[in-house]
Amino acid sequence: MKPLTIAIDGHSSTGKSTLAKQLAKALGYVYVDSGAMYRAVALNALRNGWVSKEDGVQASKINAHLETLVIDFELDQMGTNTTLLNGEVVEEEIRSMRVSNVVSHVAKLVPVRRHLVSLQQAMGENGGVVMDGRDIGTVVFPNAELKIFMTASDEVRASRRKAELDAKGQVHFIEDVLENLMSRDKADMERVDSPLIAAEDALTLDNSSMTREEQFHRVLGWVAALQK
Ligand code: CDP
Repeated sequence: MKPLTIAIDGHSSTGKSTLAKQLAKALGYVYVDSGAMYRAVALNALRNGWVSKEDGVQASKINAHLETLVIDFELDQMGTNTTLLNGEVVEEEIRSMRVSNVVSHVAKLVPVRRHLVSLQQAMGENGGVVMDGRDIGTVVFPNAELKIFMTASDEVRASRRKAELDAKGQVHFIEDVLENLMSRDKADMERVDSPLIAAEDALTLDNSSMTREEQFHRVLGWVAALQK
């Protein structure tokens, strides 16, 4: 049977990567976290002083250095997906609020999107891939066999993200976490190039009151229906 391409898009902190990892493991597929790639570009820009929450982006600097960045994924000893930027493990740093506060400014730059979309398309060219992000079903893999659009209530998303940050010792007020999610969603939905929008043929999954297991089994049902 031909391996599927599974595209998972949706709002910030809706559990896209949790579901994508579960599916990739169960199906023996490759998992690609496209958001980690935007976060890595944003981290590089922060380190070089090309972006800040206050002053916005220096687009020409960021765009000019795209080709010099090497963004890879590898599995660590625990089998956890880890993001590398020019060979350096940046998995934890890219998830910090410092990066979350600027990533959507970087992700709206057209050359950044073109560059990362072409890398993502190459990673998934043979199928057998689960990729999550904002434009996977609309732009990266418009022919994906299964497209899922995930959403959840604002309160649920903010408390899940706060718990994730707390667990890493990065303690923030829930109000600041919520504000970050809302402002990223707004920027992601309003940008001109490949805005966050559900593909017409996407199946919507609102997991506000679903457990991980419930949502996983529902999606496995969708996969099984495609494989019949
Ligand atoms: O984990 P979370 O849902 O908070 O976000 P993420 O998937 O790590 O993505 C971080 C940011 O990258 C998003 O808010 C978008 O601005 C951007 N992004 C994008 O523009 N396109 C994608 N395919 C993936 C992420």
